[in-house]
Amino acid sequence: MSDRSPEGFPAGYPHTRLRRVRRHDWSRRLVRQETLSVNDLIWPLFIREGSNEREPIVSMPGVERLSVDLIVDAVGEAVKLGIPAVALFPATDAKLKTPGCEEAINPENLVCRAVRAVKEKYADAIGVICDVALDPYSSHGQDGLVRDGYVVNDETVEMLCQQAIVQAEAGCDVIAPSDMMDGRVGAVRQALDGSGFLDVQIMAYAAKYASAFYGPFREAVGSAGNLGSGDKRTYQMDPANGDEALREVALDLAEGADSVMVKPGMPYLDIVRRVKETFAAPTFVYQVSGEYAMLVAAAQNGWLDRERVMLESLTAFKRAGADGVLTYFARDAARLL
Ligand code: PBG
Repeated sequence: MSDRSPEGFPAGYPHTRLRRVRRHDWSRRLVRQETLSVNDLIWPLFIREGSNEREPIVSMPGVERLSVDLIVDAVGEAVKLGIPAVALFPATDAKLKTPGCEEAINPENLVCRAVRAVKEKYADAIGVICDVALDPYSSHGQDGLVRDGYVVNDETVEMLCQQAIVQAEAGCDVIAPSDMMDGRVGAVRQALDGSGFLDVQIMAYAAKYASAFYGPFREAVGSAGNLGSGDKRTYQMDPANGDEALREVALDLAEGADSVMVKPGMPYLDIVRRVKETFAAPTFVYQVSGEYAMLVAAAQNGWLDRERVMLESLTAFKRAGADGVLTYFARDAARLL
């Protein structure tokens, strides 16, 4: 640069000044690459029994477990805000949790009742997503059936297929297998098709890591105590692995997934980028409970600006390549956008 500098300019004089376009708001807006919109948001909601009941989740300030009637109201708010989809998670009564997870395939279980109530009122005005995994129903807190201390794959998958069908019958639009069993996407697809649910989508939790960031969620659905000192490392992915995420995503897409998800979010933006670049498929990212908890806790202490870290983190997902984000901030973000 210095040898091309005009006479009289000091060595190292910057002819290229990247700050020029940052000087004014109009110019910053003009060169901005990513724009977060309400269409990027999926709002996870926790359901509990009862009516007109709301119960705070201690480790997720601002998030509550809602009875079905209040879930319908919350979904109404989401519809008004233009949020395209909600994900419903049941906090099942402890007495209904068993080793065999029978409640998962009960057509009258909490999540099925909530889906029916929501769909009755809002029909196609909003998408409803349901997890397929057994942890909300298991007395051991694992996502699958346990035999001799090990979460067994194929027997679990049979159960997941039945779970997907009762949820589809209730009116669920998107089945989201979050269990990380092998072969579950193909099996669930076949089960759905076999029951006539050709248009029910599958959003696969394809690259789901065995993460410590799920802690508050496990409190929210009441599975933390059941899991105890157990963990999910024999099926969820090792946080140290990147390439394996691409193999997981490749399999899920080959088995018929309509979209894939990376989870958690903020510590895994490299995975979001690789997945999007490799497969060019609809790619979602889950900003999980622990990510929400740490941002909100710091904001409550006055250490972070809640609104700004929320929007910054969500925009970063877009920049990494995500088409949408499951986030507990969805309502708050939608109100600002
Ligand atoms: C259930 C499930 C989990 C989450 C979504 N679905 C917990 C887990 O796998 O232990 C975590 C979501 C969050 O932390 O916000 N399989």
